[in-house]
Amino acid sequence: MTEFLWTTILIFATYRYMSKISEKEATEKIKQLTVDLNHHNYLYYVKAQPVITDYEFDVMLQELIALENQFPELRSSESPSQRVGGYISKEFPTVTHNYPMMSLGNTYSEEELRDFDERIRRVIGSNFEYVCELKFDGVAIGLTYRNGKLLRAVTRGDGVRGDDVTNNVRTIRSIPLSLMGNNFPDEFEIRGEIILDKKTFERINNERADIGETPFANPRNSAAGTLKLQDSSEVARRKLDCFLYALYGDFDFSTHYDGLKMAAEWGFKISSHYRLCDSIENVFQFIETWRQKRDSLPFDIDGIVIKVNNFRQQEELGFTAKSPKWAIAYKYKAESATTILNEVVYQVGRTGAITPVANLKPVLLAGTTVKRASLHNADQIQKLDLHLHDTVFVEKGGEIIPKITGVDLSMRKAGAIAVKYITHCPDCGTELIRQEGEANHYCPNENGCPPQIKGRLVHFTSRKAMNIDGLGVETIDQLVEAGLLKNVADIYHLNSDDLLQLERMGEKTVGNLFEAIEKSKQVPFERVLFAIGIRFVGDTTAKKLARHFGSYHKISQATLEELMLTPEVGDKIAASIFDFVRQPANINMVAQLQESGLLFELDASSVRDAGTKLKGLSFVITGVFQKFERDKIKETIEINGGKVSSSLSSKTSFLLAGSDCGPAKLEKAEKLKINIISEDDFLKMLQ
Ligand code: IVH
Repeated sequence: MTEFLWTTILIFATYRYMSKISEKEATEKIKQLTVDLNHHNYLYYVKAQPVITDYEFDVMLQELIALENQFPELRSSESPSQRVGGYISKEFPTVTHNYPMMSLGNTYSEEELRDFDERIRRVIGSNFEYVCELKFDGVAIGLTYRNGKLLRAVTRGDGVRGDDVTNNVRTIRSIPLSLMGNNFPDEFEIRGEIILDKKTFERINNERADIGETPFANPRNSAAGTLKLQDSSEVARRKLDCFLYALYGDFDFSTHYDGLKMAAEWGFKISSHYRLCDSIENVFQFIETWRQKRDSLPFDIDGIVIKVNNFRQQEELGFTAKSPKWAIAYKYKAESATTILNEVVYQVGRTGAITPVANLKPVLLAGTTVKRASLHNADQIQKLDLHLHDTVFVEKGGEIIPKITGVDLSMRKAGAIAVKYITHCPDCGTELIRQEGEANHYCPNENGCPPQIKGRLVHFTSRKAMNIDGLGVETIDQLVEAGLLKNVADIYHLNSDDLLQLERMGEKTVGNLFEAIEKSKQVPFERVLFAIGIRFVGDTTAKKLARHFGSYHKISQATLEELMLTPEVGDKIAASIFDFVRQPANINMVAQLQESGLLFELDASSVRDAGTKLKGLSFVITGVFQKFERDKIKETIEINGGKVSSSLSSKTSFLLAGSDCGPAKLEKAEKLKINIISEDDFLKMLQ
């Protein structure tokens, strides 16, 4: 949904409830919205059968958020508004699991699986069934529910203690915050796997590569990294998902199969791909079916889990020190092939990062012909001790691009030449650099290296940045080759006579192109800031910087510490911005773009955007705050349209209380029935 629409809805919803509604009415409305939103959330994210549009859902959600902003004490931790995040977790407390989080014995062989079956028969005889399930390749999570509400979410950790990541997990829309029905124990735990589907993984990786961050190796790593992000609204944006597969507590049912069915009724996402098997032969059939079909799943699996169905029989079988004796994981071997390494080529990205890629003799692997494999960096090449024309093992695991896992040394020809990492840029010849602690080499010739120039232009004109239709990769190539574009500022100095000389450039095409370029001058500051291509500054960070500072000028004047006060900006990003704004070429580029009329500060409408959230509200601030200086809080209230006064009166909407605040103010606020809110409540109001 567009920013404009969101804002309109927010203004509408806020306006509607700001003054008129009583607390009693708000309570009722919040209750109804919560029921409706939970229901639609379940239909969309668990059942994949939505019955309303995204727009209708968003309108309801914004209505709820506006009400909760006005009556923060009515906001519960199970509210659907928690899905959008907003909590900043400085650290994730370590907590002890109620039930140790064991792992599973695993095998890659049919023979060992038959041994497992034999062992089970020796203990419980032959009257039993297995449940076969997909083995989701993600991050294990334990969710505790008390009285039907999500109480806490803990990672595996060392199996005895894990990290409490509840605030981040609340943003995962397929995890119920409150359960459906009422036939569940007062307290129980359900475990499952947090995953990222393949499409979302690709989106995140493309975004990372685009801003010069090292891409994640696979969806599992990406899910693990996401779960530990400090800003839960960023976690919400990444769209994690979660399949549940194990229950712990006192239940009425006596089999795992019935437990899965019941858990689905309570609103959990249970994969539909599980099956009861009454023989090991049926288990093998299930394994074979999914060996062939696994690539068609939207997420990664790395095997099949086989569990004895009956709880009493599970008890009889018991546990080893590390894992249950009643379950085993059959893991699919990563598919691998051998082929010949023809050459190693080096690609230069828009940030100058060098990526080595192996060109291979084409080979069939897991149903596709593989011609290239990623080599990541110089260390990887050295570790593999690659020589030209080596026979190499190529594997396709969770990764989208296959990788070289080893060399068949017995096939190496005498006198083979070792692959030596390049010392100079393959495109412009500049000597490469490698900063301490970084895995990648870089070409420092930012302004003279063609792939970097082209990459920056492609980024600048892309949809999420300046959105200049008609300036795609091919046209940019053509204009750079023709010497018409050397940097992004040149886009605004193109002239039609030059363009009309070029192939495929007719009057109409050129006319459309100029129209799109002209239109881009209206693109808001936050997107311009993303477009100019500061390393590590993605679209979300750009938005946060724009809102925090208001103008490029202020960003360019900021100290490292001031930059780091922006939400989500750590020392790495701050250093990159600090460096960028001081480079002469960038100073020159920004000056030219400013002269061409691009927006380098929040325009009136964006300021209005920011100004609606606290409009009509008056605050009194007291005490000491953890995350922001008092002045910063005051400024933030005013930027967002609110008022700050020094003394409490019946007109005060909120007392924003930090630690160490005097009891007199609190008492007075209570007497006047003024809402007392914490720094976190306040931050949530702004989300
Ligand atoms: S059952 C007592 N079922 O794989 C163990 N685990 O390699 C209960 N996993 O620790 C786990 N899919 O993190 C179970 N359908 C599934 C699973 C699954 C993935 C993970 C889980 C487990 C690991 C073992």
